[in-house]
Amino acid sequence: MLDVLLSEENREEMEGERIQRLSLDLFAAGIDTTTSTLEWGMAELLRNPRVMEKAKAELEEAMEKGKPVEESDIARLPYLQAVLKETFRLHPAVPFLLPRKAKIDVELGGYTIPKGAQALVNVWAIGRDASIWENPEEFMPERFMGSEIDVKGRNFELIPFGAGWRLCPGYPLAMRMLLLMLGSLVTALIGSWLVELKQKKWT
Ligand code: HEM
Repeated sequence: MLDVLLSEENREEMEGERIQRLSLDLFAAGIDTTTSTLEWGMAELLRNPRVMEKAKAELEEAMEKGKPVEESDIARLPYLQAVLKETFRLHPAVPFLLPRKAKIDVELGGYTIPKGAQALVNVWAIGRDASIWENPEEFMPERFMGSEIDVKGRNFELIPFGAGWRLCPGYPLAMRMLLLMLGSLVTALIGSWLVELKQKKWT
């Protein structure tokens, strides 16, 4: 990215301070969000052995033995995708999104939000709302299997990247990185589990 920002063709538009601010924005917005989601995903897999076994089985079936997960494999891993959506539902990295300001008086659900008021969207609470989700406290990726719900801001019950004009611009990158990292970690567990099993047989 720095190569592009520093390139000759961007020289006029991109002076040092601008590059600094842009980099700060991207680092601040893109790092903790991604790592905390990955940590929660792995934590949920470890405390839900049933889900972990299903994720491992899917990877073992879809992947050639010993081959690392690549971006092109992701489409063949619907259960892993569902695991990530379920992680976003229970552990959104930005639980109140970014604050909004009402431009005009708005009537919403019987309430008036006056012009100029700051509005926070409680994505964390939406993800655990029992009127939307069955057994909301349970980590159950199956709820997303065969479902049309995605995280692109079109389904308001699941908006970990926000929605509308301010939708996270990093979401395609984040989705790719997270599925790749989660898939790689689970694959690594399959590997070490196989090694352990072999060692047990030999001793
Ligand atoms: C799990 C990963 C991530 C999550 C959950 C996440 C979530 C969000 C959310 C909720 C917003 C505010 C959207 C709104 O209020 O409607 C946002 C904004 C933003 N995100 Fe992400 N994000 C992630 C990763 C990334 C990455 C990897 C990058 C860039 C490399 C990035 C860059 C940004 C930027 C620049 C904004 C501000 C956009 C604006 O103000 O118009 N994010 N993100």
